[in-house]
Amino acid sequence: MRKKIVAGNWKMNNDFFMTKDLIHSIKSKLNNNFNAEVFISPSFPFLIEAKKNCNNTQINVTAQNINENESGAYTGEVSSSMLKSIGINSVIIGHSERRQYFNENDHILLKKLKKAISEKFKVFFCIGENINERENNNHFDIIEKQLNNTVFKIESFDVNNLIIAYEPIWAIGTGLTASPEQAQEMHFFIREIFKSKYGSKISDNLSIIYGGSVKPSSAKDIFGKKDVDGGLIGGASLRAEDFIDIVNSI
Ligand code: PGA
Repeated sequence: MRKKIVAGNWKMNNDFFMTKDLIHSIKSKLNNNFNAEVFISPSFPFLIEAKKNCNNTQINVTAQNINENESGAYTGEVSSSMLKSIGINSVIIGHSERRQYFNENDHILLKKLKKAISEKFKVFFCIGENINERENNNHFDIIEKQLNNTVFKIESFDVNNLIIAYEPIWAIGTGLTASPEQAQEMHFFIREIFKSKYGSKISDNLSIIYGGSVKPSSAKDIFGKKDVDGGLIGGASLRAEDFIDIVNSI
Protein backbone atom coordinates (compact mmCIF):
# COMPACT_ATOMS: atom_id res chain seq x y z
CA MET A 1 0.00 0.00 0.00
CA ARG A 2 1.40 3.34 -0.96
CA LYS A 3 1.88 5.97 1.71
CA LYS A 4 -0.20 9.08 2.22
CA ILE A 5 1.99 12.11 2.73
CA VAL A 6 1.47 15.73 3.72
CA ALA A 7 4.53 17.98 3.56
CA GLY A 8 4.77 21.65 4.47
CA ASN A 9 7.17 23.59 2.27
CA TRP A 10 7.99 26.69 4.30
CA LYS A 11 10.10 28.19 1.50
CA MET A 12 12.07 31.31 2.55
CA ASN A 13 9.76 32.14 5.47
CA ASN A 14 10.16 32.29 9.25
CA ASP A 15 13.21 33.27 11.30
CA PHE A 16 14.66 31.09 14.05
CA PHE A 17 12.07 32.06 16.66
CA MET A 18 9.13 31.80 14.32
CA THR A 19 10.35 28.39 13.21
CA LYS A 20 10.41 27.17 16.80
CA ASP A 21 6.99 28.68 17.53
CA LEU A 22 5.40 27.12 14.47
CA ILE A 23 6.81 23.69 15.28
CA HIS A 24 5.59 24.06 18.84
CA SER A 25 2.07 24.94 17.65
CA ILE A 26 1.97 22.08 15.16
CA LYS A 27 3.13 19.65 17.83
CA SER A 28 0.57 20.82 20.34
CA LYS A 29 -2.29 20.48 17.87
CA LEU A 30 -1.35 17.27 16.12
CA ASN A 31 -3.32 14.36 17.52
CA ASN A 32 -2.44 10.75 16.92
CA ASN A 33 -5.28 9.96 14.59
CA PHE A 34 -4.00 11.08 11.25
CA ASN A 35 -3.27 8.76 8.36
CA ALA A 36 -0.38 10.48 6.67
CA GLU A 37 3.37 10.78 7.00
CA VAL A 38 3.95 14.40 7.95
CA PHE A 39 6.93 16.49 6.85
CA ILE A 40 7.94 20.09 7.41
CA SER A 41 10.62 21.86 5.45
CA PRO A 42 12.15 24.90 7.15
CA SER A 43 15.15 26.80 5.76
CA PHE A 44 18.68 25.39 6.04
CA PRO A 45 19.87 27.36 9.12
CA PHE A 46 17.01 25.97 11.21
CA LEU A 47 17.08 22.32 10.21
CA ILE A 48 19.09 21.18 13.25
CA GLU A 49 16.81 22.99 15.66
CA ALA A 50 13.71 21.76 13.81
CA LYS A 51 15.01 18.21 13.92
CA LYS A 52 15.70 18.51 17.65
CA ASN A 53 12.22 19.89 18.28
CA CYS A 54 10.59 17.10 16.29
CA ASN A 55 12.43 14.27 18.02
CA ASN A 56 10.03 11.63 19.32
CA THR A 57 7.16 13.08 17.29
CA GLN A 58 5.62 11.93 14.02
CA ILE A 59 6.88 15.03 12.27
CA ASN A 60 9.73 14.51 9.81
CA VAL A 61 12.02 17.31 8.73
CA THR A 62 13.09 17.71 5.12
CA ALA A 63 15.46 20.04 3.25
CA GLN A 64 14.35 22.33 0.43
CA ASN A 65 17.38 21.80 -1.78
CA ILE A 66 20.61 19.87 -2.18
CA ASN A 67 23.75 20.30 -4.24
CA GLU A 68 24.65 17.56 -6.70
CA ASN A 69 28.36 17.55 -5.76
CA GLU A 70 29.96 15.78 -2.85
CA SER A 71 31.93 18.76 -1.48
CA GLY A 72 34.27 21.53 -2.58
CA ALA A 73 34.32 25.06 -3.93
CA TYR A 74 30.60 25.69 -4.38
CA THR A 75 29.98 28.84 -2.37
CA GLY A 76 26.59 29.00 -0.73
CA GLU A 77 25.64 25.40 -1.41
CA VAL A 78 24.73 22.50 0.89
CA SER A 79 25.71 18.88 0.26
CA SER A 80 23.92 15.64 0.96
CA SER A 81 26.59 14.57 3.47
CA MET A 82 26.16 17.84 5.40
CA LEU A 83 22.45 17.17 5.64
CA LYS A 84 22.98 13.56 6.62
CA SER A 85 25.37 14.59 9.37
CA ILE A 86 22.49 16.40 11.09
CA GLY A 87 20.04 13.58 10.52
CA ILE A 88 18.23 15.01 7.50
CA ASN A 89 17.51 12.27 4.98
CA SER A 90 14.94 13.82 2.69
CA VAL A 91 14.86 16.68 0.23
CA ILE A 92 12.61 18.57 -2.18
CA ILE A 93 14.06 18.62 -5.71
CA GLY A 94 12.77 20.32 -8.84
CA HIS A 95 10.40 22.82 -7.28
CA SER A 96 9.19 25.26 -9.94
CA GLU A 97 10.64 28.17 -7.94
CA ARG A 98 14.09 26.53 -8.15
CA ARG A 99 13.55 25.99 -11.87
CA GLN A 100 12.31 29.54 -12.44
CA TYR A 101 14.50 31.71 -10.19
CA PHE A 102 17.67 29.61 -9.94
CA ASN A 103 17.79 28.21 -13.47
CA GLU A 104 17.60 24.61 -12.40
CA ASN A 105 16.91 22.78 -15.62
CA ASP A 106 16.22 19.09 -16.15
CA HIS A 107 19.93 18.43 -16.70
CA ILE A 108 20.88 19.79 -13.27
CA LEU A 109 17.84 18.25 -11.64
CA LEU A 110 18.82 14.83 -12.92
CA LYS A 111 22.23 15.23 -11.27
CA LYS A 112 20.61 16.27 -8.00
CA LEU A 113 18.20 13.39 -8.20
CA LYS A 114 20.97 10.88 -8.87
CA LYS A 115 23.01 12.21 -5.98
CA ALA A 116 20.08 12.17 -3.56
CA ILE A 117 18.97 8.69 -4.61
CA SER A 118 22.49 7.30 -4.37
CA GLU A 119 22.70 8.72 -0.84
CA LYS A 120 19.39 7.02 -0.01
CA PHE A 121 17.52 10.25 0.54
CA LYS A 122 13.76 10.37 0.34
CA VAL A 123 13.09 12.73 -2.56
CA PHE A 124 10.05 14.90 -3.21
CA PHE A 125 10.44 15.43 -6.94
CA CYS A 126 8.28 18.26 -8.30
CA ILE A 127 6.88 18.52 -11.80
CA GLY A 128 4.25 20.80 -13.28
CA GLU A 129 3.12 22.79 -16.29
CA ASN A 130 2.68 26.55 -16.61
CA ILE A 131 -0.54 28.30 -17.56
CA ASN A 132 0.26 28.56 -21.28
CA GLU A 133 1.07 24.89 -21.47
CA ARG A 134 -2.23 24.07 -19.74
CA GLU A 135 -4.24 26.41 -21.95
CA ASN A 136 -2.65 25.00 -25.09
CA ASN A 137 -3.49 21.52 -23.92
CA ASN A 138 0.19 20.56 -23.70
CA HIS A 139 0.19 19.70 -20.02
CA PHE A 140 0.41 15.92 -20.43
CA ASP A 141 3.30 16.23 -22.90
CA ILE A 142 5.16 18.62 -20.59
CA ILE A 143 4.80 16.34 -17.59
CA GLU A 144 5.96 13.34 -19.59
CA LYS A 145 8.92 15.32 -20.94
CA GLN A 146 9.94 16.49 -17.46
CA LEU A 147 9.87 12.88 -16.27
CA ASN A 148 11.64 11.56 -19.37
CA ASN A 149 14.48 14.01 -18.81
CA THR A 150 14.90 13.24 -15.12
CA VAL A 151 13.32 10.39 -13.16
CA PHE A 152 12.95 8.08 -16.16
CA LYS A 153 16.68 8.24 -16.77
CA ILE A 154 17.13 6.41 -13.49
CA GLU A 155 17.00 2.68 -13.90
CA SER A 156 16.21 1.61 -10.40
CA PHE A 157 15.18 3.28 -7.21
CA ASP A 158 13.46 2.42 -3.98
CA VAL A 159 9.84 3.45 -4.52
CA ASN A 160 9.54 4.25 -0.82
CA ASN A 161 12.15 6.93 -1.33
CA LEU A 162 10.58 8.68 -4.28
CA ILE A 163 7.52 10.90 -4.05
CA ILE A 164 6.26 12.71 -7.11
CA ALA A 165 4.72 16.10 -6.38
CA TYR A 166 2.47 17.28 -9.20
CA GLU A 167 2.47 21.04 -8.85
CA PRO A 168 0.86 22.98 -11.69
CA ILE A 169 2.77 26.26 -11.71
CA TRP A 170 -0.42 28.27 -12.30
CA ALA A 171 -1.75 27.00 -8.97
CA ILE A 172 1.29 27.72 -6.80
CA GLY A 173 0.80 30.65 -4.47
CA THR A 174 -1.94 32.02 -6.71
CA GLY A 175 -5.01 30.88 -4.81
CA LEU A 176 -6.03 28.91 -7.91
CA THR A 177 -6.24 25.21 -7.19
CA ALA A 178 -6.50 22.47 -9.75
CA SER A 179 -9.94 20.95 -9.45
CA PRO A 180 -10.00 17.50 -7.85
CA GLU A 181 -10.82 16.14 -11.32
CA GLN A 182 -7.86 17.91 -12.94
CA ALA A 183 -5.56 16.61 -10.20
CA GLN A 184 -6.91 13.06 -10.50
CA GLU A 185 -6.60 13.10 -14.28
CA MET A 186 -2.94 14.10 -14.13
CA HIS A 187 -2.04 11.81 -11.22
CA PHE A 188 -3.60 8.89 -13.10
CA PHE A 189 -1.59 9.83 -16.20
CA ILE A 190 1.63 9.99 -14.16
CA ARG A 191 0.93 6.63 -12.54
CA GLU A 192 0.24 5.09 -15.96
CA ILE A 193 3.53 6.26 -17.43
CA PHE A 194 5.38 4.98 -14.37
CA LYS A 195 3.62 1.68 -14.95
CA SER A 196 4.73 1.51 -18.56
CA LYS A 197 8.35 2.23 -17.55
CA TYR A 198 8.74 0.25 -14.35
CA GLY A 199 5.72 -2.03 -14.02
CA SER A 200 2.72 -2.01 -11.75
CA LYS A 201 4.57 -2.99 -8.58
CA ILE A 202 6.35 0.36 -8.68
CA SER A 203 3.45 2.43 -10.01
CA ASP A 204 0.97 1.06 -7.46
CA ASN A 205 3.33 1.85 -4.61
CA LEU A 206 4.37 5.29 -5.81
CA SER A 207 3.04 8.18 -3.74
CA ILE A 208 1.96 11.03 -6.01
CA ILE A 209 1.05 14.15 -4.08
CA TYR A 210 -0.55 17.37 -5.25
CA GLY A 211 0.70 20.90 -4.61
CA GLY A 212 -0.75 24.29 -5.50
CA SER A 213 -2.82 26.45 -3.15
CA VAL A 214 -4.17 23.54 -1.13
CA LYS A 215 -6.25 24.96 1.71
CA PRO A 216 -8.20 23.34 4.54
CA SER A 217 -11.34 24.02 2.48
CA SER A 218 -10.07 22.22 -0.63
CA ALA A 219 -7.88 19.47 0.84
CA LYS A 220 -10.55 16.86 1.50
CA ASP A 221 -11.93 16.85 -2.04
CA ILE A 222 -8.49 16.73 -3.64
CA PHE A 223 -7.16 14.06 -1.27
CA GLY A 224 -10.34 12.08 -1.82
CA LYS A 225 -9.32 11.27 -5.36
CA LYS A 226 -8.02 7.79 -5.99
CA ASP A 227 -4.57 8.67 -7.32
CA VAL A 228 -3.89 11.65 -5.07
CA ASP A 229 -1.80 10.47 -2.14
CA GLY A 230 -1.50 13.71 -0.21
CA GLY A 231 -0.12 17.18 -0.68
CA LEU A 232 2.86 19.50 -0.76
CA ILE A 233 1.60 22.57 1.01
CA GLY A 234 3.13 26.05 0.77
CA GLY A 235 1.25 29.05 2.16
CA ALA A 236 -1.20 27.07 4.27
CA SER A 237 1.63 25.19 6.00
CA LEU A 238 2.75 28.41 7.68
CA ARG A 239 -0.32 28.44 9.91
CA ALA A 240 -0.44 25.56 12.36
CA GLU A 241 -4.26 25.30 12.40
CA ASP A 242 -4.49 25.20 8.62
CA PHE A 243 -1.67 22.71 8.29
CA ILE A 244 -3.21 20.41 10.89
CA ASP A 245 -6.61 20.69 9.21
CA ILE A 246 -5.01 19.65 5.95
CA VAL A 247 -3.19 16.73 7.62
CA ASN A 248 -6.50 15.65 9.11
CA SER A 249 -8.17 15.79 5.69
CA ILE A 250 -6.39 12.64 4.53
P1 PGA B 1 1.23 26.94 -2.25
O1 PGA B 1 2.67 26.31 -2.57
O2 PGA B 1 0.50 25.92 -1.41
O3 PGA B 1 1.52 28.21 -1.49
O4 PGA B 1 0.57 27.19 -3.55
C1 PGA B 1 2.82 24.97 -2.89
C2 PGA B 1 4.27 24.68 -3.21
O5 PGA B 1 4.93 25.55 -3.77
O6 PGA B 1 4.78 23.59 -2.91
